[in-house]
Amino acid sequence: MSTYRTLEIASKVHDYSVFFTDDFTGFLAEPDAAEFYLVDANVARLYAEQLAPVFARPHLIIEATEANKSIEGCTRAMYELVEGGFKRGMRLVAIGGGIVQDICCFCATVIYRGVEWRFYPTTLLAQADSCIGSKSSVNMGDYKNLVGSFYPPNDIVLDTAFLTTLAQGDILSGLGEIIKVHLLDSPESMEYMRERYAAARADVRSDAMAELIVSALSIKKRVIEIDEYDRDYRNIMNYGHTFGHAIESLTDYGMPHGQAITIGMDLANDLSWFLGMIDEATYRRMREAIEPNWPSMSLAGLDLEKLFDALKKDKKNTDERVAFILTRGPGQMSRERVALDDAVRGRIAAWFEAYRPAE
Ligand SMILES: NC(=O)c1ccc[n+]([C@@H]2O[C@H](COP(=O)([O-])OP(=O)(O)OC[C@H]3O[C@@H](n4cnc5c(N)ncnc54)[C@H](O)[C@@H]3O)[C@@H](O)[C@H]2O)c1
Repeated sequence: MSTYRTLEIASKVHDYSVFFTDDFTGFLAEPDAAEFYLVDANVARLYAEQLAPVFARPHLIIEATEANKSIEGCTRAMYELVEGGFKRGMRLVAIGGGIVQDICCFCATVIYRGVEWRFYPTTLLAQADSCIGSKSSVNMGDYKNLVGSFYPPNDIVLDTAFLTTLAQGDILSGLGEIIKVHLLDSPESMEYMRERYAAARADVRSDAMAELIVSALSIKKRVIEIDEYDRDYRNIMNYGHTFGHAIESLTDYGMPHGQAITIGMDLANDLSWFLGMIDEATYRRMREAIEPNWPSMSLAGLDLEKLFDALKKDKKNTDERVAFILTRGPGQMSRERVALDDAVRGRIAAWFEAYRPAE
């Protein structure tokens, strides 16, 4: 097992490590515990040869769908685990993106009241963001991500080799989360990201991509170690998400999450400018960091009344006003409640009017 870097994460549940490696197969060779694998169906197909040791051990192949990432889907998975011989004291191992992660984390939390689990993240979003932070979020009927737990893996094995087969939309989605954490950290982090963005996007195996993943996880580590349970400070990780979630739901999830929050960050910055929290120069400087990751999906015909309704229904609201993470500049995000009065609605409508998708 060779690692070129390790990141240690402190957690109230148990501390855990991220092992960065150029050869994930070394970790599969000789497990030090009896294991049961949950493997993303596309990853199982694309990496059949490297994953041969996994297929010789107990495993489930899981289609990465939101329907499977549900309380019902997790119940089905747990039946299959038990019937497939999964016993207390064994380890669950997830190999896949955020969907397989959420399913595995939720099952690991509740089956036998908690078992060890390991995670091999295979999407950029999972590698640069969701693999740390302890959260599982699963759907219940039409309620997305309503049910979940805080239960981190015991370790994470991270190899950017998996990214070579990822669809471009999923690369851009992961880059959206990478941009987000660097903007919310500091002006220096924003510049660090900007200097590497193009090279990382052009080659997922570049040093630039590995550096951005390490730096994104290091920033997130600082945030979650202060507020793992998302009671206060960790809210800043929702920068771009209030608008992003509304756009995702209005496009029937046709726009990948990280691209919807790319737009969401710019909308939040525009609102911050409108409310006098930043000046135009700051808005433009932040936009230059965000715009290279602009989606190519058109938003023409988006029903703004439905968008306002979706914003009002956001689960982070506690009263009539909408909770947004707004900014006073890079590294200065805060949670603000904003009434969607006519002036604010007009400003948001003007933003959409001016919006042009990437070529
Ligand atoms: N728990 C958390 O902290 C957290 C955080 C953010 C997002 N999420 C959840 O994660 C999910 C999104 O996760 P995601 O963006 O990682 O993607 P995903 O798991 O939905 O996978 C996206 C697609 O990529 C495929 N895929 C995965 N790895 C691949 C690879 N190496 N090569 C080719 N194809 C591959 C999958 O089969 C799927 O078709 C959402 O359900 C979201 O709610 C959870």
